[in-house]
Amino acid sequence: MKRNLKIITILGTRPQLIKASSLSNLFKKNRKIKEIIVHTGQHYDYEMSDIFFKELNIPKPKYNLNIKSKYHGEMTARMILGIEKILIKEKPDYTVVYGDTNSTLAGAIASKKLLIPVIHIESGLRSYNKKMPEEINRVLTDHCSDILFTPSKLANLNLKKENINKSSIYEVGDIMYDIFLNHYKKLKKNNNFVSSDILVTIHRPENTNNFGKMLNIIKNLNELSKMYKILFPIHPRTKKILKQFDVFKLINKQIKIRKPLAYTETIKHLKYCKLLITDSGGLQKEAFFSKTQVITIRGQTEWPETIEAGWNRLVKPNNFSIYDNVLKSISKKGYNKRPYGKGNAAKLILKKIIKLHHSK
Ligand code: UD1
Repeated sequence: MKRNLKIITILGTRPQLIKASSLSNLFKKNRKIKEIIVHTGQHYDYEMSDIFFKELNIPKPKYNLNIKSKYHGEMTARMILGIEKILIKEKPDYTVVYGDTNSTLAGAIASKKLLIPVIHIESGLRSYNKKMPEEINRVLTDHCSDILFTPSKLANLNLKKENINKSSIYEVGDIMYDIFLNHYKKLKKNNNFVSSDILVTIHRPENTNNFGKMLNIIKNLNELSKMYKILFPIHPRTKKILKQFDVFKLINKQIKIRKPLAYTETIKHLKYCKLLITDSGGLQKEAFFSKTQVITIRGQTEWPETIEAGWNRLVKPNNFSIYDNVLKSISKKGYNKRPYGKGNAAKLILKKIIKLHHSK
């Protein structure tokens, strides 16, 4: 490499820590690369942030902006302000952003305005639902990125439709697959591990902010808990809202409510459960990787390949729709497809960044 390479990585939320872990660990091993991690502080509870740094061995952030929860405009604006100052001081060669959160968008805008090239990892995903904050973040981030690493053929196609320069797009596979493979093979069912039949996670505002939907989800889960062992690790947003709606107390006592789980714990439960009910993007895929059936409580998904391969179905919560689909899904088998690469995305990304830097 012609000279040392300085990279600023912007992180802020739980899924971004998981996504960054593989590449950050590769950066750490390369003496010619200096990575500086900036944590926006979007997620701040121990279970939403610190635990992942420890578990996945992610280098400590040099900066933590401590922004915490705010209205989206204020949150994003404060992040841009903080990130801009750091970028001016550190003068990196590239800024790396992951996924589709407010932290992603803030990092991309701050960097692009300073003409520091933006690298977007997990680029090209679309739900085509502009009511989702993540969809806005994705589209805007992709359009101000200089290097776009995509997880799938469909993601490339989505970018092509929006006239994004083809020569800046590189399909490398899904970076979450790397870390998944790494941990999955080491999982062991030790004595104190209690598996469940159904794992549940719900955190999207389109569900949590709608009283009727949340009530319906609880009604369905309560019914299912008569037949299946259910584990429900609860996102802080969901817990807060269920309490505000005064419906937390309606959850059947048989349903195990837990704090958000660490990474290995999550994939272990996925491995040994029969079914996942979720509205998370990352978990839909992790379930797909571990060949576990999924019911996604949403109207659309950014990961349609999981549906085509027979492992996922979209269900809108009304009446007993979730319950009925659980009965249909639970013994179903999908196909053995691998649309998200080989689990070597981080290596491919590193190679490409070094090559691009060399040819600058
Ligand atoms: C964010 C991302 C979403 C991602 C999710 C993963 C955006 C727009 N959304 O959603 O794409 O799937 O992270 O979890 O960026 N809270 C806490 N402690 C925390 C974090 C959050 O109590 O550590 C509570 C707060 O009440 C906050 C709420 O959760 O208001 C939502 O947090 P926020 O960061 O706005 O969005 P997420 O729902 O976590």
